[in-house]
Amino acid sequence: MSRRATPFVLLGLLFSALPATSHSFENTAIVRTVDLGGSLVHVTTTFAAKSLEQDASVYTIALGEEEVDRTSWLDVKVKGQPDDLKMSIEYDPQSQMNLLDVTLPKALSLNSTITIVLETIQTHATWAWPEAAAQGDGQALKYKTDLLVPSPYKTHVQRTKLKSQSPNIISYTTPKHLDAFIQEGGPVTKSGATVTYGPYHGIPPSTAEDFLTSIQQSVVVHYSYDYPVLEVLKLRRAAEISHWGANLNIQDEISLHNAGPTLKGHFSRLEHQTQSYFKRPAAHVLPSLTLHLPAGIRNMYYYDLIGNVSTSHLRVPPSAKKATRAQYSVFEMKPRYPLMGGWNYSFTLGWDSPLENSASWDSAGGKYTVEIPIMTPIVGAVVNDAEVKVILPEGATDVKFAVPFPTVSNTLSTHITYLDTTGRPALTFKYKNLTDKHALSIYVSYRVPLSAHLKKPIAVAAGFFSLFTFALFARRIDLTISKKGKNVS
Ligand SMILES: *[C@@H]1O[C@H](CO)[C@@H](O)[C@H](O)[C@H]1NC(C)=O
Ligand SMILES: *[C@@H]1O[C@H](CO)[C@@H](O)[C@H](O)[C@H]1NC(C)=O
Ligand SMILES: *[C@@H]1O[C@H](CO)[C@@H](O)[C@H](O)[C@H]1NC(C)=O
Ligand SMILES: *[C@@H]1O[C@H](CO)[C@@H](O)[C@H](O)[C@H]1NC(C)=O
Repeated sequence: MSRRATPFVLLGLLFSALPATSHSFENTAIVRTVDLGGSLVHVTTTFAAKSLEQDASVYTIALGEEEVDRTSWLDVKVKGQPDDLKMSIEYDPQSQMNLLDVTLPKALSLNSTITIVLETIQTHATWAWPEAAAQGDGQALKYKTDLLVPSPYKTHVQRTKLKSQSPNIISYTTPKHLDAFIQEGGPVTKSGATVTYGPYHGIPPSTAEDFLTSIQQSVVVHYSYDYPVLEVLKLRRAAEISHWGANLNIQDEISLHNAGPTLKGHFSRLEHQTQSYFKRPAAHVLPSLTLHLPAGIRNMYYYDLIGNVSTSHLRVPPSAKKATRAQYSVFEMKPRYPLMGGWNYSFTLGWDSPLENSASWDSAGGKYTVEIPIMTPIVGAVVNDAEVKVILPEGATDVKFAVPFPTVSNTLSTHITYLDTTGRPALTFKYKNLTDKHALSIYVSYRVPLSAHLKKPIAVAAGFFSLFTFALFARRIDLTISKKGKNVS
């Protein structure tokens, strides 16, 4: 059944009306839970499947085109197990679906069952409605999704739960023409902050001809959302490694956008102060932000277009031992003005930290390895466009890197500062649509000339190094590639 072998690819084309996989499983139940958020929407889909053939080893998940476009992060596990499953994705023009082939940890015998959990984070999936709001108004968002979870297999029963954090659900679509799939009750129910579509029984495979045209439909939920909807339009991170100063400097240039309803009328500071005094400010106003920065940092700075911003607080615990890396500095950042719906705020944030907190020295290989975090997450925000530049010490050679998930692009260039004579190698990594799940690290390894070695020896922490395996990173799926594949087919 390998799709790579040419004869089978040809056969697959000839008989594409009957994809081989559609008979290997049936879904006994599918449950999808959507946590209605702001910039990020977390979706968990559980597939309880039964094998209809001996040695079934690949389970296929279908994803609609719109769903793939807005999915920024995705992983698949067997329920209750920690490991991500291997997968590959390709576009199937006939069903207009992206098919995600998931390799099961072991082949299933006939009639045995397995529960597979697909977790995704969608970005830019909600929009403010109404589109404009006065300073004192509430904030409401809309979210649209396909009613049914597609699958190449037939499904005995499925349901979708849309959960709002606020119990105030303003409206939701009542789907139509579903009598054949409903055994009792209506097509949709609302209970508290949850809207449930289904249970629907006996859903045919989504590869069936009439699935998209007569069964599938879109539903929209309109709900109150009590937190600001934040987007980082641009993040430019520069991480500069200095062996001379045994220092790692990280500087972020951030352009933050409030994607909630645009402010109707003028901003009144008095009204804002009155609101903050008597209750929380309106949901679509961002007065301040709390960021978690690394432990042990020093020389922190924060400035915007006007200059230094002094109305902020930083609490720094001492440098973390490797065993207690969970410790962090807390930076409470108070922009010069509250960020209203539709407004932007650009600022720069930077700090120094001892290089030994993020570097390891491998004496056998004669190389340093430095861990560079891709970003500092802003809770609930999407980063539309990120660029991480790692500037290595002067004269660094044999530069290698490992990334935790695929980049949009990466380049090696030379960074010249006035102190350098030959320039410093710099690596630049570009990303789109990052979420807090992507707040992982890039590892860069290099050699330096003898004169540049650190005075203070750096110990090799075994646990730290075990992360540095390229194989680990290669497993994650590259949704970008599937999009390219789509254009070709
Ligand atoms: C980022 O998100 C936007 C909006 O959902 C989408 O149009 C774009 O294709 C995404 N880019 C990448 C590289 O995923
Ligand atoms: C599998 O299940 C079907 C229907 O439930 C049954 O007829 C068949 O005997 C089962 N086969 C095995 C090997 O258990
Ligand atoms: C901003 O603060 C830094 C140190 O905290 C200082 O060196 C610099 O001169 C200040 N700049 C202005 C414009 O106040
Ligand atoms: C915010 O920035 C975006 C992108 O640069 C721009 O399109 C938009 O007009 C800006 N909004 C305001 C209110 O300046």
